Amino acid sequence: MIDSPVKIIETADAAQAHVRERAAKSVLVPTMGALHRGHLELIRVAREHAGKDGEVAVSIFVNPLQFEPGSDFGKYPRPEPMDEKFCADAGVNLLFRPRELYFDDRSVYVEETRLSAGLCGAARPGHFRGVCTVVAKLFNLLAPDAAVFGEKDYQQLAIIRRMVRDLNFLIEIIGVLTVREEDGLALSSRNQYLDAEERAAAPMLYQAMLRAKEMAAGGENSVSKLIDAAKNVIALAKGARIDYISIVDAENLQPLEKLRPNALIALAVFIGKTRLIDNLRLT
Ligand code: PAF
Repeated sequence: MIDSPVKIIETADAAQAHVRERAAKSVLVPTMGALHRGHLELIRVAREHAGKDGEVAVSIFVNPLQFEPGSDFGKYPRPEPMDEKFCADAGVNLLFRPRELYFDDRSVYVEETRLSAGLCGAARPGHFRGVCTVVAKLFNLLAPDAAVFGEKDYQQLAIIRRMVRDLNFLIEIIGVLTVREEDGLALSSRNQYLDAEERAAAPMLYQAMLRAKEMAAGGENSVSKLIDAAKNVIALAKGARIDYISIVDAENLQPLEKLRPNALIALAVFIGKTRLIDNLRLT
């Protein structure tokens, strides 16, 4: 037998364990800016995971690849000085704010093909390809040990977990519970598009999901009845137009017919011109 100095690794797990060598732990919070209390919670969780001597990195990049033609890319809020102060006040160590991330003649994208098929993926073709591509680039550029994402974008979180699993990124993905206003509206940078009347109507999204949850707790297990009940609540919200309301398995995002453990209600609703999304575990 040859006495070789070469270390031989024969499993993906062992390869990843070998690569994990860095003095300070680094935890990334990828964002598109317009930072709010929801992001503050992501940063808090990032610090918890990085430790006091670790690095908390925030990226801000309004990613053109994840906006469909005619959507709000141009008007997406970009309050740079406020975001910078927000990061400083929150104790962020690194702010990565690239002006551009793409080559003009780019020809490689990252696409998840299963979990992206329904929910927002059906309504926004190409959106998750844009998300995966930019997140993969951020992961490669910043090589974090972990990255934090909000559960408000539940499908995005599930897809990123899948991308990390399938492409063997050496990065732990941490999901953080949705932060809500007192009236239940999930925090989102897009809430600032709402005028006063729309803002008053917006908590109906949460009410609709709570209604379904209450019925589920009361023993109703017909998904179509639960969805109808949620739709009836949304109908009370002035100016609301349902994009989709679905009840899916929280693991594989497949639509359910009968309620079962691990069910999640997810919805997208236009309030005026603003498309809001939210989700809630039903069981
Ligand atoms: O959730 C977001 O803000 C964006 O989709 C993300 C993950 C930063 C990618 O651009």
